[in-house]
Amino acid sequence: MPCSDLSDAPLLRLHGLVAGYGRIRALHGVDLEVRRGQIVALLGANGAGKTTTLKTISGLVRASAGRVLFEGRDITALRPSDIARLGLVHVPEGRRILRGLSVRENLELGAFTVRDAGERQRRMRHVFGLFPILERRQHQDGALLSGGEQQMLAMGRALMQGPKLLLLDEPSMGLAPKLVLEVMRIVRTLNDEGATVLLVEQNARLALRLADYGYVLESGAVRMQGSAETLRDDRTIIEAYLGA
Ligand SMILES: Nc1ncnc2c1ncn2[C@@H]1O[C@H](COP(=O)(O)OP(=O)(O)O)[C@@H](O)[C@H]1O
Ligand SMILES: [Mg+2]
Repeated sequence: MPCSDLSDAPLLRLHGLVAGYGRIRALHGVDLEVRRGQIVALLGANGAGKTTTLKTISGLVRASAGRVLFEGRDITALRPSDIARLGLVHVPEGRRILRGLSVRENLELGAFTVRDAGERQRRMRHVFGLFPILERRQHQDGALLSGGEQQMLAMGRALMQGPKLLLLDEPSMGLAPKLVLEVMRIVRTLNDEGATVLLVEQNARLALRLADYGYVLESGAVRMQGSAETLRDDRTIIEAYLGA
């Protein structure tokens, strides 16, 4: 039953999200929206709560108050595996490539919920089309890839899950400048192909070149938000929150 209210609703909505680690409270009521088709940048200094926000969305950290709505549905209490099955896919900080598994096996792990073997094959071909280097290295141990290649493998594994929403945690971290640009190009490609993206980046200028909209987190709360254009042109924001 078509319902314009639902299709106009944001793909992801955080409402007053509070979360932390034991007695340490890392998020103090975060409100945030990601609309279908957008790239939204989540910015902020080290320790601002960016990673915790992504982990709370994907169920790895439990919210103690507030709600996470995905496609209008409350997913706050769901298990991480059930959240992933809905098409909300988290590429964590540090990539988490599994040692002892080949590149191909790492990719297959991404599609473990896909029952149809033909569909798994189709997705693998798609990932190899985007990342030819992964096809050439498919039989090599994933942990032996370079940093840039591991990031491609982490994104490829996420793509195998058929994401509606990709949560990317600092995909450019530790990469040489040329590879950083390559990773950003890939993020754009994934978005062009239909994935909505919530992108955590330390490099605010870079993220705002790519994004449609941005949020600046500070000490676990949204301090500012606006179109990427607005944030990009605001010198006080760049200097105060993002580092010139
Ligand atoms: N596993 C953890 N245990 C305790 N405190 C944590 C843990 N992870 C993060 N924190 C704290 O939560 C706050 C937010 O951290 P984080 O979400 O990792 O920030 P960011 O990703 O923006 O750098 C920081 O004060 C950090 O020290
Ligand atoms: Mg982080």
